[in-house]
Amino acid sequence: MDGNVRLDLDFVRAQFPAFRHPSTGPWAFLENAGGSYVPAAVMDRLNRFLVATKVQPYGDFPAAVEAGETMDAGRARIAALINAHPEEVVIGASTTMNVYVLAQALRPTLRPGDEIIVTNQDHEANIGAWRRLAEAGAVIREWCIDPVTGLLDRADLEGLLSQRTRLCCVTHCSNIVAAINDIPAIAAAVHAAGGLVMVDGVSYAPHGFPDVRALDADFYAFSLYKTYGPHLGLLYVRQDHLALLANQNHGFLPAGTALALNPGGENHEETAALQGIADYLDALHAHHLTAPEPDPRRRGAAVFALFAAQEEALATRLVDYLRDRPEVRLIGPRSGARSVRAPTIAFTVAGRRSHDIVRALLPHQVAIRSGNFYAWRCVEALGLGREDGVVRASMVHYNTLAEVDRLIAGLERTLERR
Ligand SMILES: Cc1ncc(COP(=O)(O)O)c(C=O)c1O
Repeated sequence: MDGNVRLDLDFVRAQFPAFRHPSTGPWAFLENAGGSYVPAAVMDRLNRFLVATKVQPYGDFPAAVEAGETMDAGRARIAALINAHPEEVVIGASTTMNVYVLAQALRPTLRPGDEIIVTNQDHEANIGAWRRLAEAGAVIREWCIDPVTGLLDRADLEGLLSQRTRLCCVTHCSNIVAAINDIPAIAAAVHAAGGLVMVDGVSYAPHGFPDVRALDADFYAFSLYKTYGPHLGLLYVRQDHLALLANQNHGFLPAGTALALNPGGENHEETAALQGIADYLDALHAHHLTAPEPDPRRRGAAVFALFAAQEEALATRLVDYLRDRPEVRLIGPRSGARSVRAPTIAFTVAGRRSHDIVRALLPHQVAIRSGNFYAWRCVEALGLGREDGVVRASMVHYNTLAEVDRLIAGLERTLERR
């Protein structure tokens, strides 16, 4: 990559109409873990589909041909970015839905006594659907976080693995703790025991799409509406496992395919609009890097490296501030380094309700949220109240240091007022 290239934030932010809209533009938007802004490239693709090809796809007349082609291209271009084959990719309504359907598809393959490991660090999306399989005779085993650090210890996983382990469900990066779990090492341990690995990548993917093969994940899910796309979820299923899974779609449709894991099929216009995510990454590549790169995954990786540097600067600024406040409990890694954490930063303030902190920041036009973010088991394991939970600020590459400074200035004022 061209040495010393840094993300051109003016160029980046110019791609997102939200930064110019009166209802969003004035705000420091630091709630990206709830859903990111969308670049114009995605809107253009969505609009084109709705105007010119809003017909049943895969027919013979031109609009129907183009509709099918653009949907295929949407799926294929995202698949390429995660190093998957398009046929290994399910584009469903959300991650929660995709995981639920996957669990139902695995259900007939379980024998009584088969063990499924879930964590208490995960969002409920990668816990609840698996726990329900106890009804089918599965034994649920829980991999628990350290109640102080919030981290998962791989030595504890070793103690949970057995010959009966069928599946280990774990997050790549928690939406509260934000530590990046070592998925290749976890996958190696689980595979050695004869089990499969299901990874929730929702909090990881906005910061750089995963290489699912390098991770050696069997199943990997993330939410496209948090990776600059429309409200969809992506589920990767390794090709060898497709045949294992029971058809969840119409009975007459072929089993052993991604279509069989998508009851009712995909949202046409939004699947086509996924091309806009790839268009956006390509535009960033062309803007920042002089040497053309024919491989889309390498183009993406080069852009994600630029994201990482920007995000590390943002996270470091906020982590360093929070770490030094005696009344603040910072959750997760005490460093902003991108190698250890995502720029999703949760904390609590002694003697203050998390929701009150969020509300006190509104006059500063800082948009963040509080609560358990559906990772209620994690919040409880950290010894925090389930409902009030944590204050969470979550950044992505398009955020600026000025926005983080606005949050810090607002916090200074809020914490002084006791
Ligand atoms: C870590 C994590 N996993 C899963 C989900 C659920 O994703 P979805 O809203 O697509 O169902 C979320 C949503 O916030 C999340 O943060």
